[in-house]
Amino acid sequence: MSGFTPAYPKLALPKSKLLRKLMLPWLARKSRHCSIAMIPESSYRRKVSELKLPGRSALFPADVDVIRRVLVEDAEDFPKSVIVADTLGLLLGDSIFVSNGEVWKRQRRMMTPAFEHTRVKVVFGMMMAAADAMTGRLDAVADGRCCDVEEEMTFVTADIIFRTIFSRPLEAHEADIIFKAFRSYQEAAFAHGINRAMRLPEWMSFLAFRRARKTARIIRAALDPIVASRHASFHAGEPQVHHDILQSLVSVKDDVTGTHFDLRELCEQVAMLFLAGHETSASALSWSLYLLSMDQAVQDRVHAETAEVLGDRPLAFQDLRKLDLTRNVFAEAMRLYPPVPFLPREAAKACPIANRTAEAGSVVSISPWLIHRSRSQWQNPDSFDPDRFSRPETKEAERQCYIPFSKGPRVCLGASFALQEATIILARIAQRYRLAPEPGFTPELVGRLTVRSVNGIRLRLSRR
Ligand code: HEM
Repeated sequence: MSGFTPAYPKLALPKSKLLRKLMLPWLARKSRHCSIAMIPESSYRRKVSELKLPGRSALFPADVDVIRRVLVEDAEDFPKSVIVADTLGLLLGDSIFVSNGEVWKRQRRMMTPAFEHTRVKVVFGMMMAAADAMTGRLDAVADGRCCDVEEEMTFVTADIIFRTIFSRPLEAHEADIIFKAFRSYQEAAFAHGINRAMRLPEWMSFLAFRRARKTARIIRAALDPIVASRHASFHAGEPQVHHDILQSLVSVKDDVTGTHFDLRELCEQVAMLFLAGHETSASALSWSLYLLSMDQAVQDRVHAETAEVLGDRPLAFQDLRKLDLTRNVFAEAMRLYPPVPFLPREAAKACPIANRTAEAGSVVSISPWLIHRSRSQWQNPDSFDPDRFSRPETKEAERQCYIPFSKGPRVCLGASFALQEATIILARIAQRYRLAPEPGFTPELVGRLTVRSVNGIRLRLSRR
């Protein structure tokens, strides 16, 4: 089944302008559930697509020069759009993912040390412990039964981030509360954010707003007390025994202002890291497993790679760089299903965007989803082909048009962390199990804050 092409939502728009206008309310409703479902097929060929929203327009550039300008060269002229604060602010406040300007610069300076390469090496052991716990759970169902690997990937990635932030595993009852609340939050906050972006009346998303606020409180109630207790202990001068991410954030002092994070800031950053740190990785890992289950030839080669590099022994840190195909499978899953499908920015002043003009205040959204499937940049853009990342002719597309972690000053702070944990988890699964699709199952893609499947990812697992 090599060269497998997974399905994705496609929108066929009528040629007539009038019919397209009449479709707008229907599209607006649809986009509240899945942003990807509103991408017309023609957008994959264009340098820029435009969506006229009431009162402003949204541009979706897919031109490499524009992407570089917006994300890298002129990034200060394209701050994060208010859409980000409207969807995430209730849960993450003004944390690094949401903030702009001087507030963001200070946060970035203070958070970078927690993710430097040496730190990522230190957390290797914690990631391995979480992978052991994962195989403990999966062994119980790996007798040819079907299971939802999306649930398991959410658990193991949240467990990793819990261990690396707080130096302790995530308990099943905590996971249950947080995951339920976050699922509901994503749905409600996304609907509310789209409503605001379309400048529709507030009452139309009042219920969604209330649900988002309620679920945000539930999630924060599970995390904030742990942060508060560590913050109090540090500022009371008690001896600090942990060497984890929270410790780095509690103790760090900004070089420029000489200040620590206060408790509110600390709680917001930890909530942000917990969510950005597991939701994205869980999405990419679930799609990786789905693609492997659908392409048995590639799966056989991943098995051969882990057998050659590891045999039956546990993975060591220096093995990570030898698992080329395993890493390429993950990279290709993030190309086809970028966990963060849109990076919404706002034009601070009027400027040209490809052959259009962005007025001040208009949305300029760079879309990894669109760019990763650009017909002019990639060969067979919709096919699952992990080997493309080892072919010299793909290097240019990879350099210019591969942005699962974004690029420029706001590039993902956890990219090395995510690549390391993904290689560990995929290698561990390949060493131990064979994956097959559940007969008749097709994932139903939903693009909200991240790209997930509404009906999970149901696979059949057997011990090798
Ligand atoms: C496969 C996994 C991941 C993917 C695909 C991913 C993707 C992204 C993307 C696209 C952004 C930029 C968003 C934007 O510019 O609008 C971002 C930002 C960020 N990510 Fe990740 N991420 C992943 C894992 C992680 C992990 C594991 C952590 C931390 C443990 C993390 C921490 C952050 C932080 C702190 C930012 C904000 C950076 C800033 O604005 O300065 N991410 N991520």
